[in-house]
Amino acid sequence: MDQLVVRGGQRLEGAVAIAGAKNAALPEIAACLLSAAPLTLLNLPALSDVDTMLALVAQHGVRVERGPARVTLDAGEANGTGAPYDAVRRMRATVLVLGPLLARFGRARVSLPGGCAIGARPVDLHLKALSALGAEVSLEGGLVLAEAPAAGLRGARVVLALPSVGATETAMLAATAARGETEIVNAAREPEVADLAACLRAMGARIEGAGTPRILVEGGRPLGAARHEILPDRVEAGTYAVAAAITGGRLELTGARLEHLASVGAALEAAGVQLWPGDRGLVVERAGPLRPVDITTEPYPGFPTDLQAQFMALMATAEGTSLIRETVFENRFMHVPELARLGANITLRGTAAAVRGGAGLRGAPVMATDLRASVCLVLAGLAAEGETTVNRVYHLDRGYEALDRKLVRCGARIERRPG
Ligand code: UD1
Repeated sequence: MDQLVVRGGQRLEGAVAIAGAKNAALPEIAACLLSAAPLTLLNLPALSDVDTMLALVAQHGVRVERGPARVTLDAGEANGTGAPYDAVRRMRATVLVLGPLLARFGRARVSLPGGCAIGARPVDLHLKALSALGAEVSLEGGLVLAEAPAAGLRGARVVLALPSVGATETAMLAATAARGETEIVNAAREPEVADLAACLRAMGARIEGAGTPRILVEGGRPLGAARHEILPDRVEAGTYAVAAAITGGRLELTGARLEHLASVGAALEAAGVQLWPGDRGLVVERAGPLRPVDITTEPYPGFPTDLQAQFMALMATAEGTSLIRETVFENRFMHVPELARLGANITLRGTAAAVRGGAGLRGAPVMATDLRASVCLVLAGLAAEGETTVNRVYHLDRGYEALDRKLVRCGARIERRPG
């Protein structure tokens, strides 16, 4: 398993090209299953999660033609009978093929994501949305089995108990192929949900309100060939914004959109970091000292949970105490003990972490535990004195395109050691 060795203390300066958003690419790849006509996705990020999703649809009979930063998906010969693909069990987003398979073929069998049965990160809201559209859903030995009525799925009112991103996407995907109108209430408002709607509209769907809590889908319209450009990754952009901030540097994030990072920008500004729109994207710079800032993660447009770990690394280097509350996922503080190895002083109480920063971080060997936790350790390593070795970086490659190369180009000292 590869390791990253980070030598801290370098100020970063330069431009970083922000890739297409992973969290839009995954549902949009699943969307190809809805139609027999080809779908071309542009600005496709080169990530192992994307490879996994492409392998999953290929296993369902989709022809996958990949080029640089693009893919054409032809589901003309696809079928709903592909065996569940166990190799992808660990990626939660694989459940997104359930809605399209069910809607187009009348039945679907998908491995439950997350390995264990419906547990800490359940998919119950996805399944309830499909039931509301008329599907019969059951669980059997780690598989979700879903069957549509003989006349197919029908439009309905889908009320989500939580504004789940994935469940909103499942509902939107299935409703696109259902007969009649669907109203999704308490929908997630994330920009990736709106981007999936734009992709589905390019295919011929009629969808209104994506990006608001109420989405209307007029289902059953004929779908045709389409091209869609994936929106830039706001989590990747936010991560590099923290990289600029934590090293007291200046980065231009080309392609990044400030409007998708409003809550993050506000937190960074409160911490003493400047952000402004440049000619090619977003410029982030820190010249003065960092200040502690309290944040609470929330569904969009609140502070994203996917940037919580990175912001915590930043706060570990700010003089004073900041309080970081996680309200979206339980157990999303696995980076805390690893940051502590680097000398961070963090106290955990339930869903809140008190970070007492300013004492300075020192390099140490650390272990990446998940995608965002691993990147927070690289960021902390950039600010730490001496050498930080981040083990298990395969987590990083799931969601960050060429992270080490992009950072090195801006002056970071990082070496990837094949393990
Ligand atoms: C998506 C993102 C992930 C991000 C998360 C929250 C993708 C591929 N991933 O994940 O990067 O961290 O949004 O912004 O887009 N929940 C249920 N039942 C369900 C579904 C969700 O209880 O059926 C709960 C989850 O356990 C969690 C909360 O709802 O506590 C939010 O999850 P959700 O918005 O669904 O996240 P994902 O779509 O999995």
